[in-house]
Amino acid sequence: MEKQIDRRKLVTLLGGFAGVGAAATLVAHADQTATAKAPSAALQNLPWPYKPLDPNAAAQRGFEGYYKAECMYGTFEAIVGPVAEQLGSPYKDFPFLMFKYGGGGIKGWATICGTLNGAAAAIQLLSPNPDPLVNALFEWYEREQLPDVHPKGAKFPEIRSVANSPLCHQSIASWTKVSQKHAYSPERAERCGALAGSVAKQTVILLNEQAAGKPIAFALPQATQGCMSCHEKGGAVENIRAKMNCGGCHAPMLGKHPSKS
Ligand code: HEC
Ligand code: HEC
Repeated sequence: MEKQIDRRKLVTLLGGFAGVGAAATLVAHADQTATAKAPSAALQNLPWPYKPLDPNAAAQRGFEGYYKAECMYGTFEAIVGPVAEQLGSPYKDFPFLMFKYGGGGIKGWATICGTLNGAAAAIQLLSPNPDPLVNALFEWYEREQLPDVHPKGAKFPEIRSVANSPLCHQSIASWTKVSQKHAYSPERAERCGALAGSVAKQTVILLNEQAAGKPIAFALPQATQGCMSCHEKGGAVENIRAKMNCGGCHAPMLGKHPSKS
């Protein structure tokens, strides 16, 4: 095994006898040498270096990737694939296909929408401050009419719906209701491919904004904030952990909710 160089120690050490700039140059050089000797070190340093990408190219790539290995892969690869290509080895050797697992909300269990799962993984890999981006993306996904892109090669008319949830289950149910198509139809598959495109595009927009130093706007719906004020961290009951829209599942029982009596 190669010994890894501790960057901070090296800067301190070099800074002792060279100027800070010179030390940084030397460290950069040492990093390159380390990369050549131990390629895995470059992969393990988070975040990977990120330069702004083209959101529309990401949308098309997400759609095409969906047909290779489903929604999570399509979204992740549309964002991280171009970064890995820019950076070359060892980044491009990343096992992208592992993200096939997220298809259908993880192997058809309809939990987290695979496009969001893939996007969140990409954000964690590429952003120095991932949480605001994931929050903004998930909140956008819950409320927007999606998919909001119509990729080249799409065969069916574009039909949009609002998921009101980050879950595959609600997302697909809301779409089959609006479209009157079956859950295993080619139309539904194409919709999820376009959704991979939409989510990849929005993720790239957010990553680009953050890279440009723009603040990331994010606010949960007031109804959700209301529920969280009692049931989430620091609330009087504090018996759940969630940011997702509460109403979709709990609306029917809220008439007799304890807070109303
Ligand atoms: C003012 C504080 C408060 C707010 C706001 C609030 N709750 Fe509650 N909720 C409570 C309390 C107190 C209980 C009873 C807890 C217990 O019995 O342990 C409760 C119970 C519940 C329960 C389980 C009991 C049942 O009725 O079946 C659910 C589910 C629930 N709340 C969901 C929600 C949702 C969703 C919202 C937002 C729409 C919400 N709550 C807003 C205080 C609140
Ligand atoms: C995807 C559907 C779904 C969403 C969205 C959801 N919940 Fe729940 N929640 C459930 C289910 C299912 C249970 C378990 C219900 C049971 O055991 O009767 C539960 C349980 C709870 C309970 C405990 C109930 C009890 O019996 O004590 C509370 C409180 C609660 N949810 C609040 C919330 C709040 C607040 C939100 C939004 C931040 C939320 N839930 C979002 C499905 C959901």
